[in-house]
Amino acid sequence: MAYLRLRRLIELAVLDRPGLAHVFRPRGPGAPRAAPAEQWDAHHAAGLYDGLVDPERRHHHHMLAGMIAERRPGARVLEIGCGQGAFYDSMRRLGPASYLGTDIAPRAIAGAQARFAQDVALGRAAFQVADGADLAPEARFDAIVIADCLEYLGPVRETLSRCGRLLAPGGVVGVTQWLASHPLALWRELKPAVTILDEAVVLAPWGGAWQVWTCRPAGVADG
Ligand SMILES: C[S@@+](CC[C@H](N)C(=O)[O-])C[C@H]1O[C@@H](n2cnc3c(N)ncnc32)[C@H](O)[C@@H]1O
Repeated sequence: MAYLRLRRLIELAVLDRPGLAHVFRPRGPGAPRAAPAEQWDAHHAAGLYDGLVDPERRHHHHMLAGMIAERRPGARVLEIGCGQGAFYDSMRRLGPASYLGTDIAPRAIAGAQARFAQDVALGRAAFQVADGADLAPEARFDAIVIADCLEYLGPVRETLSRCGRLLAPGGVVGVTQWLASHPLALWRELKPAVTILDEAVVLAPWGGAWQVWTCRPAGVADG
């Protein structure tokens, strides 16, 4: 615990110093990286993400849903790494035209389908098992959401180009991530390759913050 506190202090201290942030980038077995579906399923089975559906821990989701609804009212929304539908709980109140949530973990998708069974039955939402690193649906979307899982989808620039190919003209990608040195390093890598539309920081009541932004990948028309 003391080590984690120290690490968090160091991360906060280097947020504005990209050179040092690189030095403190997480490495080794604990570093965020792509992992097989079985591992994610085991995490979900152990309840590691159950707390994420708590409304008190989702102010960043409300913020992102609001940004999307303002830029693309009545959007067709695709979410990558939707977990048990925590972000959808915010988005559904703002009247998207459609919502497709995908996650690599079958257990997460089963949880989301059970939580939002009525919306699924009414055709307002669908949840499917899919690897976000290998996604090629036929449909086009007005918004693609990546909430707290960008670092698990492979090289960030490739992830954003892939999203760009799934977006209709005027489409946006919305991202949330915990404000720490590794996510910030991804942000710095990504920023020159996209057009940033909105940026915000949402404070967490227990300390720390989320970074929330929308952007348009290169090659997507303004619409
Ligand atoms: C930290 S949880 C965040 C869940 C949810 N987005 C939220 O904000 O509550 C990361 C999620 O990403 C999913 N995930 C990890 N790698 C993935 C991949 N390659 N494709 C799709 N989902 C993935 C995990 O199963 C997990 O549900």
